[in-house]
Amino acid sequence: MKNITRFRLITYVLAAISVILTARPAPALAKDVHGITPDYLRCEYLVDPEGIGETAPRLSWILQSSGRGQAQSAYRILVADSPQDLDRGVGSLWDSGKIESDETEQIVYRGKPLSSRMRCYWKVMVWDQDGRTSPWSDTASWSMGLINNEWRAQWIGLDRPWQMLGRKAYLPLTVLRSLYLPDGKVYLPCPFLRKSFAVDRPISRATLYVTALGLYEARLNGRRVGQDYFTPGWTDYNQRIYYQTYDVTGLVGSGENVVGAILADGWYAGNVAWNGQRHYGSRPSFRAELHLDYADGTSAIVPTDASWRAQEGPIREADIQAGESYDARLEIPGWDAPGFDDHDWSPVEVTAHVAAPLQSYPGIPVRRGREIRPISVSEPQPGVFVFNLAQNFAGWARLKVKGNAGDKVVMRFAEMLNQDGTIYTKNLRSARAIDTYVLKGGGEEVWEPRFTYHGFQYVELTGYPGAPTLDAVTGVAAYSGLAEVGAFECSHPLVNQLYSNLFWGQRSNYFEVPTDCPQRDERLGWTGDTQVFVRTASYNMDVAPFFTKWLVDLEDAQFPDGRFPSTAPRLTSGAAAGWGDAGIICPWTIWRVYGDTRVIEKHYDAMARWIEFLQQRSPGGLSPALGSYGDWLNVKEPTKIDLISTAYFAQSTRLMAQMARAVGKTDEAQKYDDLYRTIADAFARRYVSGEGKVEGDTQTAYLMALRFGLVPPEQRELAAGRLIGKIEDRGWRLSCGFLGVNLLLPTLTEIGRADVAYRLLTNTEYPSWGYSISQGATTIWERWNSYTKDQGFGSPSMNSFNHYAYGSAGEWMFEAIAGIDTDGPSFKHIIIHPRPGNDVTWAKASYNSIRGKIATAWSIEGDSFILHVTIPANTTAAVFIPAAGKDDVTESGRPADQADSVSFLRMEQGAAVFEVGSGSYAFAASDEGAK
Ligand code: BGC
Repeated sequence: MKNITRFRLITYVLAAISVILTARPAPALAKDVHGITPDYLRCEYLVDPEGIGETAPRLSWILQSSGRGQAQSAYRILVADSPQDLDRGVGSLWDSGKIESDETEQIVYRGKPLSSRMRCYWKVMVWDQDGRTSPWSDTASWSMGLINNEWRAQWIGLDRPWQMLGRKAYLPLTVLRSLYLPDGKVYLPCPFLRKSFAVDRPISRATLYVTALGLYEARLNGRRVGQDYFTPGWTDYNQRIYYQTYDVTGLVGSGENVVGAILADGWYAGNVAWNGQRHYGSRPSFRAELHLDYADGTSAIVPTDASWRAQEGPIREADIQAGESYDARLEIPGWDAPGFDDHDWSPVEVTAHVAAPLQSYPGIPVRRGREIRPISVSEPQPGVFVFNLAQNFAGWARLKVKGNAGDKVVMRFAEMLNQDGTIYTKNLRSARAIDTYVLKGGGEEVWEPRFTYHGFQYVELTGYPGAPTLDAVTGVAAYSGLAEVGAFECSHPLVNQLYSNLFWGQRSNYFEVPTDCPQRDERLGWTGDTQVFVRTASYNMDVAPFFTKWLVDLEDAQFPDGRFPSTAPRLTSGAAAGWGDAGIICPWTIWRVYGDTRVIEKHYDAMARWIEFLQQRSPGGLSPALGSYGDWLNVKEPTKIDLISTAYFAQSTRLMAQMARAVGKTDEAQKYDDLYRTIADAFARRYVSGEGKVEGDTQTAYLMALRFGLVPPEQRELAAGRLIGKIEDRGWRLSCGFLGVNLLLPTLTEIGRADVAYRLLTNTEYPSWGYSISQGATTIWERWNSYTKDQGFGSPSMNSFNHYAYGSAGEWMFEAIAGIDTDGPSFKHIIIHPRPGNDVTWAKASYNSIRGKIATAWSIEGDSFILHVTIPANTTAAVFIPAAGKDDVTESGRPADQADSVSFLRMEQGAAVFEVGSGSYAFAASDEGAK
């Protein structure tokens, strides 16, 4: 602590506190407590969820503490079927008793069997390392879904007799409509459905179980039910259909009540990718049950059935890709509220039996994110107004307008502008992306669509009565409503912009499934893109619920021969190396980040089938080329696809061995370990020459060989040297595509060349992340040169400006710049290993892990390296401080190894490594060791 003044120290402590306080919404605020207190109780990763489908749900909490070295030694959970019981300390469903355990997550409910619709209240108390008890946590709850598939409701829809002819009926219509419709497709008005019912006794609980083939918006007494969009979500509807559960007790009144719904085609019957409409079925239908539990103990159900009434309304068209058209003159005031006369509405059509099972939605649906205000509006052509929202994102726009009945405002959406200031829409391909609003007149009208979304930064208005002011348009970002858990900032503005861009890439593409892009006629769950980005994604948002859902989509999409497909839900026919491996890499990542072994157990057989499929086609461990994507979108440096296929076969097998071990399948783990060895040896013999040269001599070939452990130890250094040589040959620039980029920065760090990683990350010449930023990118582009100021746009046939795959650099920002990583599963033991480098002089980051908040803030001050670090209660960390020796390091002014809860472990990689318990620390080191 030679050169650190007390004043400086205070400044840093304050800075660290401000990092902690200014970061994104934390799951819960730290309480100033001594000892530990359980907080942020969740069931199946969700806060107070409704309609849980798991019969043995998993519980978790985090521990709040202000002290150092705090740990949980035991816990006790109480679960009751009434809050009164719980308040009295009675666990009528489960009293775990005192369980000696330091576990705070993935704790499986082991109480009485849970039945359909049951509501469970729970709380937890813990013992700390000295056996002191905490207070009881606040009460949390969950409710069970209709777990026995005991649906009484029928599927209903709007009766359009000619539709009974099925797909064929659309042919003549399509021909007719195509005469005057630009995309030759038929879009029909959205059905409105309603049912009036009476409530004559006080209600104690009302619950709506609801789903659709297509999309629904449920309504109850004039109000929207829930905050979810694009429900019931996208699955292979032939295999399963999800339903949502909403507690609507507060929406039900006495006397007449009305439950209703608006339906749209969605993924079920609307445009999906380039496949056109009606991919799964021809028209939307709806199924719901409103369960009324009366205070007197009786109950009733209002199911969808033939007694419902239906009508078309103001939504004339609604399609995810094509957009939405609304004629406000056709609004039906009060249709979803009591007192409405529906005698001129039609009886509904009760649609045919649907074979696929209904299951409780296991994730978090799409929700509204932040709103984005335009920064400018221009008029590149008379009457054509273009709003710039200054951020590319996915969602829609809210329109504010005043005019006459029948005035028609057309909104078009684009990511980029042409030279003349008009919007550039060529890259949307066949996605029409047009919303239309026809005014009813008579005052200010505010409208936004319900069933479409666009990827855009610019909104074009035509037909607007008069000249619109800036507030005529507001952007509404929409994406799967996952909690944001990460925050990152450093001294380098370009790196910060890159972080913002990749985070927005996720906000735009974690949209029900992990899509490649949100704008063109694609928006598919591309598995390759997903696996390269999943680790980055997990630093930004709590992705556990999202993958709990999508990994089922992926398994549903698996081919009978074990191939995992390139898209899930599946819309493509092939399989490819680095794409299908998402079936292994994504569950592995979820296990590693969240300690989730259930995800392994659930998908174990599917994963084993993938490995078996690969094994069968790979005699001796060498895999012939699988698929044609290779290192997709590499910069004129393709890597042999058979090499990629063998490399990924090895990596997937290695991860499979780890997962088998994690679920106690030791023999299988050994089998996969052996297989991995066989593949790795075969790879080395076939592709690695004696001087560490990997066949093809591409950056990506070296990256895969090094990162997946396929280079014999004695040749590693040589291969690493060649990788650096390849980068240098390119003028210190990268050449890799989707697969290589994901490995680039971590591999460089692994071989001790974080300096090169920094150099690539902060480069602004083509091809680099910085290049697209220098060309104005606010998201990650599909290609490094999707647009250049010199040459304009790349080919519109495949040119997305919001494609997160190259954003996989995000994981390195957290792991290497901020230095936050997990050592083994679930951040129980944490690695804090910041690697200051190049001209980055400070960085700060926080991450709300499954065990609570981890934060680092480091800076280089004169000749000193300062690190503030916070480790959650009940975890420990190995903290790497760049230093020549342990004696150069202090913690809060004392020799570090004498500080409370700190012990010196070893010197490693030019750093003094200390083991710390939970709490906040301020380390300082003279920088001799950092050099
Ligand atoms: C998608 C990609 C995807 C690729 C497969 C493209 O059309 O946009 O992101 O991974 O196809 O080669």
